[in-house]
Amino acid sequence: MKNIHIFPNIDELSAFFAQKLAELSHSVSEGKQVSVALSGGSTPKAIFQYISQYAVDSIHWNNICLFWGDERCVPPNHEESNYKMTLDSLLVNIPLESSNIFRIKGENDPIAEAERYSTLVSGLLPKHKDNPVFDMVLLGLGEDGHTASIFPPDITLFESESLFAATNNPYTGQKRITATGRVINNAQNVFFLVTGSSKAEMVARIIKKQEGYKKLPASKVMPKSKNLFWLLDEGAAGLL
Ligand code: 6PG
Repeated sequence: MKNIHIFPNIDELSAFFAQKLAELSHSVSEGKQVSVALSGGSTPKAIFQYISQYAVDSIHWNNICLFWGDERCVPPNHEESNYKMTLDSLLVNIPLESSNIFRIKGENDPIAEAERYSTLVSGLLPKHKDNPVFDMVLLGLGEDGHTASIFPPDITLFESESLFAATNNPYTGQKRITATGRVINNAQNVFFLVTGSSKAEMVARIIKKQEGYKKLPASKVMPKSKNLFWLLDEGAAGLL
């Protein structure tokens, strides 16, 4: 069931998300942990910065394991690394053991790393019908309708047998590693985090199933759990 929340600004959107993450971190049963797959992008970055400033103490960090839904194939200290973005905007500010952090190693050979990470995730997460189940997957939305690092030319990655796959950004050629539909659509909760009027047209095309939406990777995000949440600011929701 689509669950669309529209906020006047990024701080209120971030506060709402932080509350959801806090609830999840406190709800987990004794000895269990919550698995969260993070996203790159400007909206997640802003949310991480908000959490660092206002919400660190409300979240039970040691009940959380952090993963990534995609990564650029660059070293972890590279300015384009999703891990580095998360390190700088969140990880340095939270009391999370490094043993709870499972980054995609962008410095490795992409195909080998996609396989390594698939095996890692598969071994660590509970499964449903042989598919690993993340408690939470965060996604951004590109202006071309990409999400994670599934771009329109590689939309078939939503049907891939792999859990994580090597791909590339078709505009820059940059190699990427991305979760596939097998991971995204088996998550308990999926959050699209989208801000800015530049995304309004794409948000509307996907949510309102407007012409050509089926060609957009983000339109393939349909978690079996039905727990698909759109957290939007008024700009991104401008055409809804
Ligand atoms: C990445 C993200 C990507 C991002 C979108 C939106 O690695 O960059 O996984 O899917 O979320 O490109 O990015 P912006 O929010 O910065 O426009």
